[in-house]
Amino acid sequence: MPHMTAYARNQWYVAAYSHEVGRELLGRSVCGETLVLYRTEDEGTPVVLHDRCVHRRYPLSEAPTRLDGDRIVCGYHGFTYDTTGTCVYVPGQKRVPRTARVASYPVVEQDSLIWVWIGDPELADPAGVPRARHLDAPGWVTVRGMEPIDCDYGLLVDNLLDLSHETYLHGGYIGTPEVAETPITTEVDEGAGIVRVSRHMDDAECPPFYARSTGISGRITRWQDIEYHAPCLYVLHSRVAPVGVVPNPDGSDPDAFHTEVTYAITPSGDGTVYDFWAVSRDWATEDDEVTEFLRANNHTVVMQDVDALNLLQRTLGTERHGYQELSINIDTGGLAARRILARLVEEGAKPEEKVK
Ligand code: FES
Ligand SMILES: [Fe+2]
Repeated sequence: MPHMTAYARNQWYVAAYSHEVGRELLGRSVCGETLVLYRTEDEGTPVVLHDRCVHRRYPLSEAPTRLDGDRIVCGYHGFTYDTTGTCVYVPGQKRVPRTARVASYPVVEQDSLIWVWIGDPELADPAGVPRARHLDAPGWVTVRGMEPIDCDYGLLVDNLLDLSHETYLHGGYIGTPEVAETPITTEVDEGAGIVRVSRHMDDAECPPFYARSTGISGRITRWQDIEYHAPCLYVLHSRVAPVGVVPNPDGSDPDAFHTEVTYAITPSGDGTVYDFWAVSRDWATEDDEVTEFLRANNHTVVMQDVDALNLLQRTLGTERHGYQELSINIDTGGLAARRILARLVEEGAKPEEKVK
């Protein structure tokens, strides 16, 4: 069994995009907890319950389980739960057993994301949900998707915190030689659990992803500023501009193209992760061709990562126990992320699980 990154339980995780949750039951799994998601009829409030009926553990996200108003009716023998997970009806008897309830989970809908808290509900603070305003702000257009990957979520964190792989894995899409050649700077805010990795290229080839979408034909300055809010939210602030456009210190330079590339990294179970990806732009927002191009191109890029990580996980599964890795400068951000994740795991562990 290869190394698996443990779950940091007392944290917010993206379980779904807002548009995925409605009056159809949606099954997801976060940190090994199976969940069923839906919205209430009148207010449209998202509800997240444990996805196993207390009776014989039928998955509540599966047909013929259905909604009756805001209540969920198990498709096997009809146990019926309200939005708090309390069972309000059982077949064949008047008395509902007091223990008949499924867990309900704290949920926050913000920035077009459905965040859930699967740890100690007493500790769930909605103010602690990190923001990704560009996903749902006026003036921004976003393309998005989600791909499940059969790998330890730590491998996806590694992947995203080191973009030098763009040159090799994503050559011809977003990678050019300068990405791998340009050193990074890394900043870690241990207290806030944030890792920042920056790579500023002053004079670089423009990769097709940006050449075709922005229309820039020559060489570019290309800035990549990563902000990783452990454990779940990753935002890459990307700036491209023709070489010679002097960056405006307040970031509002009109001749640069700003793109926010967002990922939510949600461990679903042991060795499986949801890769939520989104590309947001505030330029050419009316141009549907650009939108379609970015959607298709980024999906291809994401699938290159998905294939690589599926393969890497299978490969690690055949390694001898205690295999070694070799880390270099490009891994500084990824190693900082591992340290922070280890701390969050420790903080979220139940007392009996704590490492002595
Ligand atoms: S398994 Fe749900 S009612 Fe029997
Ligand atoms: Fe990648």
